[in-house]
Parts: sequence; structure tokens; C-alpha cells
Amino acid sequence: MSVVLQKINSSVRSIRPMQDTALAQRAGQIKEELRQGVKKPYIKIIDLTWGDPHRHGLKPLTFARQVLAACLYPKLLNDDTLPADVRQRAQGLLSECQGGSMGSYTDLPGIPQVARQISEFIVRRDGGVPSDPESILISPGSQWALQNILSLLVHGSDSAVRSGVLTPLPSHCVSIMSVVGLGGVSVPYHLSEEQGWEVQVEELNRVLEAAKQEYDPVALYVINPGNPSGHVQSRKSIQDVIRFASEKRLFLLADEVYQDCIYKDNIEFVSYKRVLAEMGPPFSNTVELASFHSASKGFLGECGLRGGYVELVNLDPAVMKHVFTIFSKDNAPTPGQIALSVMASPPQPGDPSYPLYRMETQQMQTLIKDNVRIVHEVLNSLPGVSCQPVEGGAFAFPIIYLPPKAIRKAKELGMEPDTFYCLRLLEDAGVFFSPGCEYGQKVGTYHIRFCIMATRGTIEETLTRFAVFHTHFMDEFS
Ligand SMILES: Cc1ncc(COP(=O)(O)O)c(C=O)c1O
Repeated sequence: MSVVLQKINSSVRSIRPMQDTALAQRAGQIKEELRQGVKKPYIKIIDLTWGDPHRHGLKPLTFARQVLAACLYPKLLNDDTLPADVRQRAQGLLSECQGGSMGSYTDLPGIPQVARQISEFIVRRDGGVPSDPESILISPGSQWALQNILSLLVHGSDSAVRSGVLTPLPSHCVSIMSVVGLGGVSVPYHLSEEQGWEVQVEELNRVLEAAKQEYDPVALYVINPGNPSGHVQSRKSIQDVIRFASEKRLFLLADEVYQDCIYKDNIEFVSYKRVLAEMGPPFSNTVELASFHSASKGFLGECGLRGGYVELVNLDPAVMKHVFTIFSKDNAPTPGQIALSVMASPPQPGDPSYPLYRMETQQMQTLIKDNVRIVHEVLNSLPGVSCQPVEGGAFAFPIIYLPPKAIRKAKELGMEPDTFYCLRLLEDAGVFFSPGCEYGQKVGTYHIRFCIMATRGTIEETLTRFAVFHTHFMDEFS
């Protein structure tokens, strides 16, 4: 068998692809059938499988698009219909692009001004904990950065002992695929659904001890706020995880791309970097940490521009040199870097763009918080559905208590029960959600995942269709 095929087969065995291809294919066919005029109980498919706010109708922030426009078309620098701070920002960024053009390769690994802005953003976010721009590596999306850091840590199947990376279950599957694709092993630790998807140190210990029999556990991957779980870790929970990583000598990979997406009052996002610094020595100067963030998420939602970064903490200078070399393989696209600049350094009170920026972000925040409230109320009012509070992130991940008859039917059809449920939801109601089996779940439990970052109309229509479908489905299989 070809080496590539062998590698693909082994990753596919270990984790289902991001979108169950059968479901995605069927969604495509139904769209085509609707286009050709085939009559269905709906005229349009609602697809909430992506964590992509713009795809779901949310609008880009004006300031971001104005800065991008002026950078791409510098004649706009002299157009006084654009606010002065937009033109200044674009001018400043272009002055750090080679030849003053966004079309040139940027310095490696990113436009220096953007790395400085990110570092200042981190200092503000973390209550003054220092951040060195030299420890920040800009990348074409945060997943690219994660993949590269993993490539340093993970030894594949050709080494005597394969590396293990502790990964949450449920989890964003691309991260797991990265580990597996490098020949490593994803060692799943269960988040406790009953405790609001809490990370539990006893569980980390249990899976680590078991994994040590066969693999070499090298790193612990956390997603905070969680995808798909929607939990937000408390400071205490983060301290416990850091102590565990320190004791077990694990590299900490903190995927913090949803840090701006917090929906519950009295809950705040606290970064791993901040907690680590606050814990003081020996933790603060020994635990190796990579913290990832992205322009794809939050209210910016610029997924398509591909801008992310990783900040590295406590890495040996020799390792940093090596990391720098790896990241120098490819620059992030300039639009993605500009988006990062806007994310890290948005308009401030007194700036001409501030009132509009503030209005747009506040409207978005109110919209998503209300979406979360409505989703929670509707889901938890339906028999056989239960959803933990969505404290942050972009998704709801309710559990569906499927009747035994539905489970048997799914098995007869050779499908996972929650894939069967999602397929029926797609066919009958034109609503496309992802089944929990794509993210990993406790054996015998079934979930669905959908994005809550969408227009109010989309969320309301989705929930109406979903409630009718679910009630019929439960009646049919009870
Ligand atoms: C946990 C998590 N990390 C990273 C990403 C992707 O980020 P990026 O677009 O920066 O590669 C996603 C996207 O859904 C995600 O859910």
C-alpha cells in the first residue's frame, strides 16, 4: 500500500472526518434537488455545522473591512470618506509591508507591527503579565500553528515508542487528526458532562497512567472555551491542569481561540499564560506552554482570511530557534495578518471609528447571548434533550436520549445512532447539524452539535424546525 494511503487510512480509523461525508453529501444533493424544484417541507437547508459566523449571516466589522480595503487599494488612503484612524492604521501597516504593498511576502514570521500589537493585547488581557513579541509566531490560522508545534513534539509510528497527546473528549476533531496524521496517538480524556463539561484531574491521571503502558505521553491539549462543549474553565480548574502538567512533565497546548466568546454573566475568560504567571515559580518558569488564538473566531469571525498566532512560554532558546525555522516555511496571508491587527488593537474611545465599532460589537454580543438563552430554553424544554449551559465558544452540544428503537434502526442501517438522527433531521426538516460521534462522546451517549453564532432569524427558524422534527422522531420510535 502506498505510504500516503496507509497514513490516510490510519487517521480515518482513529477519528471521523470533520463533517461526516455521507451527511455532507446528502446535504449537497438535497440543495440540488431544491434548486431543481423538488417539493420538500422546506425551501432551504439551514446548515449550522460550521463555526463560521459570516457563513451564518453575521456581518463583518466595518473597521476591519475598511482597514483591509485601504491596505489592498492604497488610493483609499487619500479618500476622506474613510475615517482618519482607518487610513492611519492602513498607512502604518503598509509601511511595514515590503515595497509598501500587501502583495509582497511579509517578513517572517509576520508583519512586525502585528506581532507587537498582539503582544500588547496579551499584556492588557493578562493584567500586565509581560509578553515578548519574539515569542509570538503568526500563522495562516491557528490550526496551522498547532500542527507545527505538534510536529516538534510527536514521534510517529517509525520510532520505538509513539508519542501520546492527551486530548479532550469531546473535541474539535481537526486537532486530533493533526496528532494522528503525524503518527502520534490521541489519548482521549473525558470532560464531565454532568459537571458542565469540567476538566477533571482524576480523569487526566487515569488516562495518563493507562497511556504510559504503551505510549510516551508528551503533551496535554486543552480547548478553553470548549469546542464543542461550550464550557469555560475557572482559574482554579486551570491551576489544577497546570499543576498536573508540571508534575507529569507534559507540554501544555492551550487552544484559546474562543476567548472573546463568553456568554454567561459572572464568568470571565482567564488565559493559561496569566494563571501560569500568577502561580509563580517553579510553575511560572518551567511549564512549557503554547497558547493559540485566531482572527477566525469571536466577533471578528474572519475565518476565510486565515490569520492566527501562537505565543510560546518557557521554551528553551534552542527550541525557539527551531520553531522559528519551522514557522518560516510559510507566511500567513497578509489579509489574515491585518485581521489580527484589528483584533489585537481595535479602535479606542476618542478614535473616529470607535462609536461604530462599539455599536457593532455590542449588538453582536447581545445577539449571541440572546441566541444562547433561546437555544438553551428550547432545547431543555424538549423531552429527551438536555443541554449543559453554553458558557462560551460557538456551539451548543446537547445530549439526545435516543429511544432503543431508533438505536436499533440505526444499527440495522449500519450507522451511528446520532448520525441516523442527524440524517433524518436533514431529510425531514432541512436542518444540518453534526452528530456527536464526530467529536467523540461517552459510549452509549448521543449528541448533536450546532453553531449558535448566526442571525436571530436563522436560530429561530432552526429551533422551530428542530422542535417539530424531534417531537415526531421521538413519537415514531417510542
Ligand atoms: C478549537 C478550535 N481551534 C481552532 C480552530 C480553527 O482556527 P483557525 O481558523 O485559526 O485555524 C477551530 C475552528 O473551528 C476550533 O474550533
